[in-house]
Amino acid sequence: MKKFLAMALALCMIFALCAVASADDVKTYKVGVSIYQFTDNFMTLYRNEIENYFKSLETDSVKYEITMADGKNDMAEQTNQVQNFITQGMDVIILNLVQTSSADAVIDMVVDAGIPLVLINREPLAYDADGNTIDEAYEGILDNPTVCYVGADARQSGTFQGQMVLALDNKGDLNGDGKVSYIMIEGDPENIDAQYRTQFSIKALTDAGVEVEELFDQVGNWDQTKGQELCASALTQFGDKVEVVFCNNDAMALGAATAITAAGRTVGEDIYLYGVDALEEAVQLIKEGEMSGTVLNDAMGQSHAAVDVAIQLLNGEEIQNYYWVDYVMVDKAYAEANY
Ligand code: GAL
Repeated sequence: MKKFLAMALALCMIFALCAVASADDVKTYKVGVSIYQFTDNFMTLYRNEIENYFKSLETDSVKYEITMADGKNDMAEQTNQVQNFITQGMDVIILNLVQTSSADAVIDMVVDAGIPLVLINREPLAYDADGNTIDEAYEGILDNPTVCYVGADARQSGTFQGQMVLALDNKGDLNGDGKVSYIMIEGDPENIDAQYRTQFSIKALTDAGVEVEELFDQVGNWDQTKGQELCASALTQFGDKVEVVFCNNDAMALGAATAITAAGRTVGEDIYLYGVDALEEAVQLIKEGEMSGTVLNDAMGQSHAAVDVAIQLLNGEEIQNYYWVDYVMVDKAYAEANY
């Protein structure tokens, strides 16, 4: 009986030790993510994939506890969230800035707290001594070995939009008057994506020797309802003169598509419509002929790159300061073959 008790006790001790050892073997990293605004269509795909991908990389011994915060398009709110992340002792922060002009202040806060930082989607703009933005890498990122930016070069997306117009038989000149008359519906103008897409879509046309006429250029802040309102008002104002509608993103292009139909116009016949992002609904419209094209803004590729580098930072590995993910041109043929 004594022997039996001794054996039972020994077994219990072994089990207890194993339990302690296995609890010790599990490392849980705390990840703070703040997105500039949850209602943004594209950033919703992006943030969902950040969570999914982190979860898919968990093992028996490594877990990720993700806190996802909505910046509500309010920089003060987002600064508070970052402060909370610091107080909560996050191991890494992933940040989609509300205002890239606040990058310096936020980077300083996070770096001073000794937390690595991955900036995504909204590229902070470099500036010269006079505060004017310049086309260079951002020192606040370059100077910090634990800070990086993951994004896509918006010049490429604008250029692809223009190239899709150039690929048309009439190069976008539906009425044969020798020029392409267009309207531009822009995203948030503080955002380099909006600035570059606006500029480079048209540059692709003019670089190819095509004459252009801007009828209308207004800010729709990446928003579908705004895109619809602006396109409707441009069509009322300029009617048949409008040959091409450029939208800086698909959400606004989806709105524009509704306005185009409501105005009795037909995409591909008497007007062309382009977006960026390749949202599922937009690709569907391209297949059905109700949008002329879009550009894939690779939410999968970018979110995976952001998570991969966040994990490298958690492991104390050396990282690059910039990671770029390519855009892909999505015309009807591409949409049909790939979606
Ligand atoms: C762009 C994207 C837009 C919007 C914006 C937010 O890259 O194309 O749809 O999500 O980012 O900053």
